[in-house]
Amino acid sequence: MSEPIMTIFQMSDIHIGEPGVHIEDLRRVIAEIETTSKDLASPLVLVTGDLTTEGLREEYEAVADAFSSLSLPHIIIPGNHDERNYGAAHFERLLGPRFKTFTSEDIAIYAADSAEPDNDAGHVGREHYPQIREFFKQAEDKIKIFALHHHLIPVPHTGREYNVVEDAGDVLGVLEEAHCSIVLNGHRHVPWLWCLNDMILYNSGTLLSRRIRGAATQAYTRIDFFQDSVTFTLCQKNGTQRLFNQSTLRR
Ligand SMILES: [Fe+2]
Ligand SMILES: [Fe+2]
Repeated sequence: MSEPIMTIFQMSDIHIGEPGVHIEDLRRVIAEIETTSKDLASPLVLVTGDLTTEGLREEYEAVADAFSSLSLPHIIIPGNHDERNYGAAHFERLLGPRFKTFTSEDIAIYAADSAEPDNDAGHVGREHYPQIREFFKQAEDKIKIFALHHHLIPVPHTGREYNVVEDAGDVLGVLEEAHCSIVLNGHRHVPWLWCLNDMILYNSGTLLSRRIRGAATQAYTRIDFFQDSVTFTLCQKNGTQRLFNQSTLRR
């Protein structure tokens, strides 16, 4: 296979503050990604929320300090755990705006905060739809990525459904209309991929949390983009890699 035109390292649900989750492991992953990315044309790190466990100052400060060593472009958005105890204030102070966009020659990313203070449910909100539509319209034939913390479609092997984005149907409608290529999210701690029409929805597993389900293990995902296809590789905590999925890419 040829070289990827772009690579995203997605990590999610780091959960610093949870007993047994160590900041040294996050630092190790960041250093590993820095080393791997030296040979890549266009690497980027995307963190889809739940960096902390209780949204506390000391959790945020540890996370922000770890990411301060990352030289690659990176996009970080919050999850429901990060907005506990009014953690959004620490997020904005240490990690920037809760909504972010990124555009390059090949890719356009709209990253949304789907969390609300002290509420585990996901929500995007119709007030954001016009901006999402306009952003992807400007992106024309680039690879269009929508990132958020919560899932838009239920994920198998995660028990009874809860916390799915409340306005998921309308958000999916906006993304389909906008010809979104991929949705990247976390929250459920299980890697999973759905294709809806021609749109890929990838649910990242957890990077470090001990709250894994079934056979899932802690991992971050290397997402390699080629002209017409995309591959998802799990880089697991035990040091092994596993090709998770290969799909056709729409623009
Ligand atoms: Fe989580
Ligand atoms: Fe979450």
